[in-house]
Amino acid sequence: MTEAVRYDRDADGVVTLTLDQPGQAANVMNAEYVSAMGAAVDRLERERDEIRGVVLTSAKSTFFAGGDLELLSRVTADNLEEFAGFLTQAKGQLRRLERLGRPVVAAINGSALGGGLEIALACHHRVVLDDPNVNLGFPEVTLGLLPGGGGIVRTVRLLGPQAALPLLVEGTQLRPAAAQKLGLVDELAGGPDEVVAKAREWLDSGAEPVQPWDRPGFMIPGLPPGDPRAYPLLSAAPAMLAKRTHGVYPAPERILAAAVEGAFVDVDTAFEIESRYFLELVISPIAKNMIGTLWFGRNEVRRGPSKPAGYERRPVERLAVLGAGMMGSGIAYTSANAGIDVVLKDVSLAAAEAGRDRIGALLDERIAGGKSTPERRTEVLRRISPTDTDANLAGCDLVIEAVFEDRELKSAVLAMAERMARPDALIASNTSTLPITGLAESVRAPERFVGLHFFSPVHKMPLVEIIRGRLTSDVTLARAFDYVRQIGKVPIVVNDSRGFFTSRVFGTYLTEGIAMVVEGVPPALVENVARKAGLPVGPLAVADEVSLTLVARIRAQEVADLAAEGRAPLDHPAYAVIDRMATELGRPGRSAGAGFYDYPPGGGAKRLWPELAEHFAVGSGDVPEEDVRDRLLFIQSIETLRCLNEGVVRSARDANVGSILGIGFPAWTGGAVQFVEAYGGPAAFAARAKELAARYGERFQPPPIKS
Ligand code: NAI
Repeated sequence: MTEAVRYDRDADGVVTLTLDQPGQAANVMNAEYVSAMGAAVDRLERERDEIRGVVLTSAKSTFFAGGDLELLSRVTADNLEEFAGFLTQAKGQLRRLERLGRPVVAAINGSALGGGLEIALACHHRVVLDDPNVNLGFPEVTLGLLPGGGGIVRTVRLLGPQAALPLLVEGTQLRPAAAQKLGLVDELAGGPDEVVAKAREWLDSGAEPVQPWDRPGFMIPGLPPGDPRAYPLLSAAPAMLAKRTHGVYPAPERILAAAVEGAFVDVDTAFEIESRYFLELVISPIAKNMIGTLWFGRNEVRRGPSKPAGYERRPVERLAVLGAGMMGSGIAYTSANAGIDVVLKDVSLAAAEAGRDRIGALLDERIAGGKSTPERRTEVLRRISPTDTDANLAGCDLVIEAVFEDRELKSAVLAMAERMARPDALIASNTSTLPITGLAESVRAPERFVGLHFFSPVHKMPLVEIIRGRLTSDVTLARAFDYVRQIGKVPIVVNDSRGFFTSRVFGTYLTEGIAMVVEGVPPALVENVARKAGLPVGPLAVADEVSLTLVARIRAQEVADLAAEGRAPLDHPAYAVIDRMATELGRPGRSAGAGFYDYPPGGGAKRLWPELAEHFAVGSGDVPEEDVRDRLLFIQSIETLRCLNEGVVRSARDANVGSILGIGFPAWTGGAVQFVEAYGGPAAFAARAKELAARYGERFQPPPIKS
């Protein structure tokens, strides 16, 4: 037996199995684990007569991290059989553990996600450390997989389908108290020693070593056989799911199938059904795309290949946020939450305090949802000092400007902030459209100026685009990178360009959707096909949110800037629509109550403006659905490739991660560059792009694709 699962039997006949993979920060389900666990279970069976009970715990800071994604990403159709053997072995061991005939208790001393929770569910009782850093759940679905180690079968049998399905299908992670309330774990303990002590107490309480599903007459909670009350839920579930996934994500569908099919057979058959669906997913290109970008890519981006080398990590101590509006208050909240003191400045004290009140309201919502505590609320709000006085910026080592999108105003507040803050302070702008190099002229030290582009809502969106102006220095970039990591966000570094990376790509999505309206494609078709492709919001709805006035203003600036360089922009059919909507027709978007959609006063459901076709449908509308879909995806992917070729975004990895986390490019593709592969590789992608260019315009000409 290797050390990965340590086996210690004490004088009382209690065996402690300690999960502790040598040389690794966390335990994962790999060959080493399976071999060690196999040996441990063999020994438990051999020594059963001398054993009174088993405590399963971990020597790492987390209990068990889950599946080994390195291993899973290497599984292909060619080695699937070998992997299937491995899976059967891992599951078989856990089944033997729960049928040992001796009580087994999980002493969960840290987060148990995925495979970790599956191991814990194979124990008869679960005691978990009640700590805010401990999470329990099944995140597999977020990487295109399912809990294939018995997680679906046991969770459904333990909680019933109604409570189990959201956990499995949505990948929700629970804090210990919420997990206990749901019945996923049995007891909470205040500290690591207490976890083990309570586990032993349970062993001493004479509990029966039998899982509920192995007892005679067992019925799944909420699913008594033949009781018709359970069936409306089960029959509606696929439709509810399809509404969310639009059929582009196979993992949640397979999870539902495994859960429901498994509920109507014996437990061992249910394990086999679960495995079969898992094996199908693990070799699917979608899982590979999602694991590649959302796990490996994202982790690599966070590790910091974009951070200039040679600079020690330097945390921000005191942050000034200028503008306590929607973005400024979000930035203040996220930073205070990470332990940074924040000066939140607006034009009046009342406006600054309103910003802090918005943060208070956000924290109230989190408390109501069990995600925060009143103590935490007090602590976070204490870190935020609202002010209307420039002098209070003294001592700040980072300033982030988030006032109105107005060049003159921004210049003025940036110059003031530079004078007031620490002499070596980093000065940043959250502008979404103004070039950073130009704004840098407002400050005396442009080398200390950088763009920090957050996304709305700030507390939910994981990405921050760091924009390097022409004069931004390496040390500034390194410090900006450190700050973004300090607040727990994912930083991608991009070079200054109109719209930077994300807004530039996102803009093409909006305008492509609008162009189709001119061509006579029914607007509802455009919106629905977008969602069916996995895009979170249709392009017309997004245009309304952003406001057509803003889109028109950005375009006008682009035309003027290009004219100054002696160039003309590519013609684009969308702009005629945008201009007319914003001015002549008086429909600039949601904030005005009228855009591509009508917004009934009083908050009723919006609906597409019925007269759109009368005003704009100049074409025949004869665009196949497949072309609508491909246009919406290709145009973003092509713009991303251009950004990559121009050096705006600096690696395919940043582009993939940024496109999914920043602008909602569908995760199933693995990102806007990986989409080339998802489509069938560079040749197939270029051929299709050329077809679209011939039919719909030169903007689809494929740029060179570097592999
Ligand atoms: P907002 O209108 O909610 O907030 C702007 C705030 O700035 C207001 O509270 C205003 O009173 C304050 N302000 C104006 N002049 C000021 C001054 N001289 N000193 C201090 N505060 C002053 O605007 P929002 O949406 O928060 O946007 C702010 C910036 O963030 C803009 O540059 C915008 O382009 C950018 N941005 C916005 C995103 C969005 O989704 N709304 C996304 C990314 C960036």
